[in-house]
Amino acid sequence: MADITRFGISIEKNLLEKFDRLIGKKGYTNRSEAIRDQIREALVRKSWLEGKEGVGTITMVYNHHQRELTEKLTDIQHHYYRDVLSTQHVHLDHDNCLEVVIVKGRPSRIEELANRLRACRGVKHCSLSITSSGKGM
Ligand code: NI
Repeated sequence: MADITRFGISIEKNLLEKFDRLIGKKGYTNRSEAIRDQIREALVRKSWLEGKEGVGTITMVYNHHQRELTEKLTDIQHHYYRDVLSTQHVHLDHDNCLEVVIVKGRPSRIEELANRLRACRGVKHCSLSITSSGKGM
């Protein structure tokens, strides 16, 4: 475990009460862990915005009956084969498929991939969730 440093924070009472209510709803039992998570989240966003390596998941739901859609989604993913680590497909019901694509690469390329998948006719929902490779955190 990394060295732990303790430090004090000056904050308006009103703002701290809001923060405590917010983290209480999220299930945190202490402020330190909530603040650490906020810092990590900011670092992930910064790394993403700076265009360094990003890790994430693209989750999409699409119409199983849309003609040639499955082939098209696969073709697009093949084009980005260097960025796609893994794909999982679930047949949600008779009409809908759920696919989760785990990606790692340059953020601009990952966003481009997500946008191309989202733009396909028959894709009902597509969201990109970014996270960290865990390095330097
Ligand atoms: Ni399916």
